[in-house]
Amino acid sequence: MKRLLLILTGLLLLGPLTARELLTSPGNLLTLTFEVTDGIPRYSLDYKGRPVVLPSRLGFELKDAPSLLEGFTQRSAERSSFDETWEPVWGETSTIRNHYNELAVTLEQQGRLLLVRFRLYDDGLGFRYEFPEQPQLTHFVLREECTEFAMTGDHTAYWIPGNYNTQEFEYTISKLSEIRRLQPEALRTSNAPDGPFSPTGVETSLQMKSDDGLYINLHEAALVDYSCLHLDLDDRTFVFRAHLTPDAQGNKGHLQAPCVTPWRTVMVSDDARDMLSSNLILNLNEPCAYEDTSWIKPVKYMGVWWEMITGKSTWSYTSLPAVQLGKTDFIRCTPNGRHGANNENVKRVIDFAAKHGFDQVLVEGWNIGWEDWAGHQKDYVFDFVTPYPDFDIRMLNDYAHERGIRLMMHHETSSSIRNYERHMDRAYRLMNEYGYTAVKSGYVGSILPYGEYHYGQWCNNHYLYAVKKAAEYRIMVNAHEATRPTGLCRTYPNLIGNESARGTEYQAFGGSRPHHVTILPFTRLQGGPMDYTPGIFCMDISTFVPGNRSKVNATICNQLALYVTMYSPLQMAADFPEHYEKYMDAFQFIKDVDVDWDDSRYLAAEPGAYIVAARKAKGRSDWFVGGVTNEEARTMEIGFDFLDPGREYVATLYADAPDADYATNPEAYTIRSGRVDARSRLSVRMARGGGFAISLREATAADRKLRRLK
Ligand code: NOJ
Ligand code: CA
Repeated sequence: MKRLLLILTGLLLLGPLTARELLTSPGNLLTLTFEVTDGIPRYSLDYKGRPVVLPSRLGFELKDAPSLLEGFTQRSAERSSFDETWEPVWGETSTIRNHYNELAVTLEQQGRLLLVRFRLYDDGLGFRYEFPEQPQLTHFVLREECTEFAMTGDHTAYWIPGNYNTQEFEYTISKLSEIRRLQPEALRTSNAPDGPFSPTGVETSLQMKSDDGLYINLHEAALVDYSCLHLDLDDRTFVFRAHLTPDAQGNKGHLQAPCVTPWRTVMVSDDARDMLSSNLILNLNEPCAYEDTSWIKPVKYMGVWWEMITGKSTWSYTSLPAVQLGKTDFIRCTPNGRHGANNENVKRVIDFAAKHGFDQVLVEGWNIGWEDWAGHQKDYVFDFVTPYPDFDIRMLNDYAHERGIRLMMHHETSSSIRNYERHMDRAYRLMNEYGYTAVKSGYVGSILPYGEYHYGQWCNNHYLYAVKKAAEYRIMVNAHEATRPTGLCRTYPNLIGNESARGTEYQAFGGSRPHHVTILPFTRLQGGPMDYTPGIFCMDISTFVPGNRSKVNATICNQLALYVTMYSPLQMAADFPEHYEKYMDAFQFIKDVDVDWDDSRYLAAEPGAYIVAARKAKGRSDWFVGGVTNEEARTMEIGFDFLDPGREYVATLYADAPDADYATNPEAYTIRSGRVDARSRLSVRMARGGGFAISLREATAADRKLRRLK
């Protein structure tokens, strides 16, 4: 008995068996601790000496095999550093620094090996799991990834509900402890086909703010051959647990060693602007996979689109279901008289886009299949090559090219993935034949084959396959309803856009709250650009579609600012020519604004409240500034110290009129110009749901007479 007591006391004195590794970021802002205690691996993260992630578990549950959660010993820990500057094909800045310290720990559990690689930057942490080639773990199926992110308290979160198929929700701003109560209401903001996976499930990129002013963001980078990461919150302890999208059998992923998982990311700063300027997600992705990228070009475009979204016209040519029509019978069938993609209408938009210097015109509803939407469930409706009889594909492309415009292709796949893959080569060949260089693809509806989800491993592999295949044809891709991006555009820069969140279309489906655009750059845009489709100038939709009572919850100046605050190399001017013609002086900003940048500065930002960004046009001295606010009016003090000192610029300010208001007077604005330099300051008022935009060009001798901007 005595001996037993002695042994127990000895064990207590020794404490748990712990191996511990510390890693600091290059500028010492962040510290990572990794430890294996009693066989269980955990990591934690501090920022400037303050805890951000408390000790959190790592590992996996496997199907039909022992889990990879405990019983580990640390075999080795390797450290290295990396510092490189690279040039993106397009981007917010012309160069990006990738500077981190790395720790790679190899763990062993009864002969099975699991490596965890940590990369620590001054703006955050990335870590991933790696499965080296090994005899005891080759093919395996994940039941769940068990990564935890233990938060330090009841932070404020800017969240959307967890869902395997859509992220087209309004954001809710609440304490973590309120997610359970508010989730049902949040779910009603979109037409989600499936329920949430948990009453406290949320999506990444998840932005949070702690009570003591730390901004924390959880997301993932380089999602390749793996299921999408969602987060499930334990709202008593504030620990998030990874939750992967399942496949039709409920499995979370099929892996074969050697392989790696996507990076799990934690961005942190005490300044909200750092969340927006961080390149953590891009840096964690692989360098560009293409040797020649000369064919990848940013695009400013208009479209035959908003008219279908608002209900003014239709994608479909006829009301008859396709099952009653052979392809050739379309010539003889009765058109419904409201088809948007008709020759005359497309020419009209081409004329306007050409006159005002746009690159492309998107035309949706050009191909047969729309008349039998329900038929997509039979897996064969769209062939992506057969135009409706009133869309003369040869004539319209010639007409566009003669005017310096290209048409933008549209492939609505109706989520029939196999059907799309079957037709893909022919579809891309057709694009080459007629000179299309970009395709907007879409994945509306439930995935076929049934049971698969939009964000599962199988679909994720498809989206990337479509992008790589497009590259073989020198085609750029903008995929809607696909998995939210994770920085893959660094490796595959022909992925010039995604939707994967609630875009402008919802302004015509009942509206979105003004704060939406002050949150998206903190969340959805972390992984890559969004085809948000801004530029709406006529806010009361019932004035041109009597049956649609939706209002666009924004002022015209808010819409202008989005071209700067919502970074994308692909920007649409989404409204109709006739609406722009009413406000040509404001439209001038959309004509002038660039879509590719040498430099970007975030002048002011607070998630859910406001964002002010300034960007310098690629290869030019022009700058553009944009500011947006939420439901509150506010006045911003702008400093121009981003300008070259000693140079003078002519600034044109597009501001909400004093009586502008998104709900009552959204189309009221003022425009004034004047000289500014790096020492100038300007006070600009934004209306409720409003914003402002400024264009700046270098002053010439002729501008000397101009007054200073006040
Ligand atoms: C949803 C997309 O977001 C929208 O832009 C598109 O017009 C429709 N699907 C039809 O494909
Ligand atoms: Ca959509």
